Amino acid sequence: MSALPGSYEGTAVTGLDSSPVDSTPETVAALPPLTAQNEGEAREIIARYPEPRSALLPMLHLVQSVQGYVSPEGTGFCARILGLTKAEVGAVATFYTMYKRHPTGRHLVSVCTNTLCAVLGGQAIYDAVAEDLGVGHDQTTADGSLTLEHAECLAACDYAPVVTVDYEFYDQQDVESARELVAALRRGEKPAPTRGAPLTDFCGISRQLAGFSQHADAAAERAAIDGPSAGEPTLIGVRLAAERGESAPPMDEAQQAATPEPTPEPAIAGGGTPAAKAGDATVAAAGNPAEKAGAAQVHTDAPEPAGRQPAERGSDGTDTPPTRNPGASGQGTSVEREA
Ligand code: FES
Repeated sequence: MSALPGSYEGTAVTGLDSSPVDSTPETVAALPPLTAQNEGEAREIIARYPEPRSALLPMLHLVQSVQGYVSPEGTGFCARILGLTKAEVGAVATFYTMYKRHPTGRHLVSVCTNTLCAVLGGQAIYDAVAEDLGVGHDQTTADGSLTLEHAECLAACDYAPVVTVDYEFYDQQDVESARELVAALRRGEKPAPTRGAPLTDFCGISRQLAGFSQHADAAAERAAIDGPSAGEPTLIGVRLAAERGESAPPMDEAQQAATPEPTPEPAIAGGGTPAAKAGDATVAAAGNPAEKAGAAQVHTDAPEPAGRQPAERGSDGTDTPPTRNPGASGQGTSVEREA
């Protein structure tokens, strides 16, 4: 990390970005306008929440889906519709790195240079790609095809080093594969991500993050959502633990005393709870022993692992207690985290 504090490179290293929002007349004049249709979509987003201001994050993604960044017009659009000040909107938009301050290229290429990826070659990948593209952090190629950025941990350390394009994963990259990836993107190709949904583009994924489908019909949407997800690096820990009969250490007496009894779920006709039935189906549908072991571990009838508090498990079999609000950002990548 040779960059000086205050430079674009330095902002990536420190997580602090003090660069201004691009409001130059040439940029603003070239932007597609936010339309009445967009305003209708914004009101659709607002209707999803009990409080209108809770809609701000997806509305900012909606602005980016049209204009490629949170423009001055987009800030005013959100402020007017939500009854906020521009300063309030700007405070949110400049806090999260997923909201851009300059027009983004057709694709956003994020190279993880956080610790694990960096030591496994992430920094070398970033340096090589930056050299090929002739741009640095948060800069866009002259042809507008790609914006490059350093990224903090992309929550895929088991596949390090990781590159994402428009937040889709390209796992276990090396310098050559990453160079080929960006060259293909510049030729207008869309190489298939390693897992997850097919690649779209920055405006397309921004529209998805605003909660709107990009797919022609329900079948196409389901096919995209049902793309490959967990792979061997993710499941290997579960498999090894199952093979070795390993489990977490038992709770001590103080932990057990502090653990409230879980509320039993209502039984349904045919025996079992809805969550237990869903768990049965997931285990039955698992395609291999590792997936079966993973599904069995989260089954509601599974013995509670020692060291874990049963109250952490919600009545739907997830780990989110019913009283806890899961949050609104949706994507949940640590790209959004800033110090
Ligand atoms: S350090 Fe790169 S994905 Fe976690």
